[in-house]
Amino acid sequence: MASRDEEGVQVRLRHIVEVGQFDRPLVEDIFKRADHMRSIPRAETPLQGLILATLFYEPSTRTRLSFESAMMRLGGHVISTENAREFSSAIKGETVEDTVRIVAGYADAIVIRHFEQGAAARAASVAAVPIINGGDGPGEHPTQALLDLYTIKHELGRIDNLKVALVGDLRYGRAARSLALLFRLTTGTELYFVSPPNVPMGDDVRQALSEKSIGFRDETNLLDVLPEVDVVYQTRIQRERFDSTAEYEAARGIYVIGEEALRRMKPEAILLHPLPRVDEIAPEVDPDPRAAYFRQAHNGVFVRMALLDLLLNR
Ligand code: CP
Repeated sequence: MASRDEEGVQVRLRHIVEVGQFDRPLVEDIFKRADHMRSIPRAETPLQGLILATLFYEPSTRTRLSFESAMMRLGGHVISTENAREFSSAIKGETVEDTVRIVAGYADAIVIRHFEQGAAARAASVAAVPIINGGDGPGEHPTQALLDLYTIKHELGRIDNLKVALVGDLRYGRAARSLALLFRLTTGTELYFVSPPNVPMGDDVRQALSEKSIGFRDETNLLDVLPEVDVVYQTRIQRERFDSTAEYEAARGIYVIGEEALRRMKPEAILLHPLPRVDEIAPEVDPDPRAAYFRQAHNGVFVRMALLDLLLNR
């Protein structure tokens, strides 16, 4: 899927489907590009004349709009279907593969979000233009993981030798899954999985971490974990992923970050969340300087500008 330039950086990344496609030099390169994008002059429009299609079969605020903003900030154009499940020809029975074959004739790259795990990989297998996975069911959310790790670098100055608590829905939460997998590119990382009993981190992620000797352990008491960690990555319990209301109710409301949690966190730690939040971070937490989740969402534009530039500016 990729080849290397003289500095060892993968320059021929065709699609972005899962974090396993990245290596450390490529991630460092993306972060450097994202830093550049923070202050790119308005007159610099490297993607002028190119078109990005955003094909979203599930709701989104951040991923869709930040990709669209990123494309437009680089001088490109956007075509979009924000509710492709109902308002594209999917409702008439068209397959993802056929839709992507068609949209590839209208755009130079496609960001796709779909409710089925593996849908982005299926799209990439038939697409004549780059496919970017904007989230595939409970599978992966690779660009979210990149912006999460970029935020950690930006806030703490490093991505190695960190203790990180991943909190909430780790079974269906694609952002937490992708971030855990991306930590395989780091050293000295210790992960704490703090999830309700019915939504633990999957065995596939545990196996992948073990293969790279990334330490992880399950914890049930969030308040005990907080004084130890450098990063708290809180996530939403996703009502839409559960088969029954009873299962959802069993998982929600167990781990909530409020004032007591803030008192327990290290002074230099940060609190992240891929957002949207429901009630798992109290609004009183927002003014605390360690609450980095809105800065994190803003970083999404710079990281997605970097990714579009990497894929399209050749
Ligand atoms: N973090 C994230 O994926 O947010 P959206 O669902 O709003 O895109």
